[in-house]
Amino acid sequence: MKNIVKKYGDGFPAVNDVSINVADGEFVILVGPSGCGKSTLLRMIVGLEDITDGEMIIGGKVVNDLAPRERNLAMVFQNYALYPHLSVYENIAFPLRLANVDDKTVDQKVREASKTLELDEHLERKPGNLSGGQRQRVAMGRAIVRDADAFLFDEPLSNLDAKLRGQMRSEIARLQKKLGITTVYVTHDQTEAMTLGDRVAVLKRGLLQQLATPRQLYTNPANLFVAGFIGSPPMNFLPATVEGTTVQLPFGSVEIPAAKAEAAAGKGLLIAGIRPEAFEDASVADQSGGGSTFRATVDVVEWLGNEAYAYIPFEAPPEVRKQLEELERDLDGETLRTQLVVGLSGATRIAAGDDAEIWVDTSQMHLFDPSTGENLTMDAENAGDIPGRADRQAVTA
Ligand SMILES: Nc1ncnc2c1ncn2[C@@H]1O[C@H](COP(=O)(O)OP(=O)(O)O)[C@@H](O)[C@H]1O
Ligand SMILES: [Mg+2]
Repeated sequence: MKNIVKKYGDGFPAVNDVSINVADGEFVILVGPSGCGKSTLLRMIVGLEDITDGEMIIGGKVVNDLAPRERNLAMVFQNYALYPHLSVYENIAFPLRLANVDDKTVDQKVREASKTLELDEHLERKPGNLSGGQRQRVAMGRAIVRDADAFLFDEPLSNLDAKLRGQMRSEIARLQKKLGITTVYVTHDQTEAMTLGDRVAVLKRGLLQQLATPRQLYTNPANLFVAGFIGSPPMNFLPATVEGTTVQLPFGSVEIPAAKAEAAAGKGLLIAGIRPEAFEDASVADQSGGGSTFRATVDVVEWLGNEAYAYIPFEAPPEVRKQLEELERDLDGETLRTQLVVGLSGATRIAAGDDAEIWVDTSQMHLFDPSTGENLTMDAENAGDIPGRADRQAVTA
């Protein structure tokens, strides 16, 4: 995808100058809140939506003006679109029947796909009698027999319950690896994005924010939006001022590594981003790697056995509050995060109401510019592609 733009009739850019290079055999996720342009982008790949500007290139060939059937891609639909009156065998065979392929070839291809998908015992059954996972496999079988060059998924798991969603997620991951087929997968769920993707493209209002591996996104988010979107429970955002290597937070001050301090020097009021797991009960924390401790009054503790979460409310000045409110709107969130969520080991004895001593691994702290949202302390070498960044282009070889 090279500088892809989609403007609908009203001129609104649903996709705005997006460049993404999907490698052969790669599993790429398009993720972002509802309305950010994921489906539009996917539909432009398949050919179901006209491209306003930019180039869609598949296997070295510009396909902007090719009809969907000429692109040889397989869209695996959310509702599986299986025919209830046809057997599993005929459901898989369907695209071949449409193309008037001879019976012998059909049989060979269907049996080959059913072997890969472990559907051999179910070929004569009707889709209605299958589990959700089996139905998903039938839908994929139909895509496989076409020898498509890529699979495209648009939120295939969104109307399943949580347990089934987990199963299907691992099923899709397993099959994609087994088949080695290039896959683009749309979801609004950051967990799906993190667990499935080789690389993940995070979109916000039609704009690509960052294209990187799950680990890069998690450890080196380009901006507040990516930082707030990826990770659960989400990253904490706190007002912060930096002086030397000391960061003043609502609870007191902590020391940060010199390199981070340098990157944030002289910028005035900032937003510190710290993930819940960067904290620990100071009495059980392994502090050999450095970090910093502070005291705070704990409002609520949720103890889960293997871990615990402590909640510590704080006040944010208006500048920070405004930015956080906007962030919540962008993220489709409901809560304004003016409480710190601290992850603790299950061994903690900290209880509600305690004035607790808490350790924080400040090497994991990010500092964001509140006016632009930019992550000032990002390790640019390990952040993948960030459009608009001077030293990198969104499309790399
Ligand atoms: N057919 C259409 N006509 C006009 N606007 C559309 C159409 N389809 C989508 N949009 C708009 O484009 C934006 C992106 O939509 P979409 O790609 O469906 O987002 P997502 O899949 O990320 O939820 C939304 O603001 C949506 O209202
Ligand atoms: Mg959509």
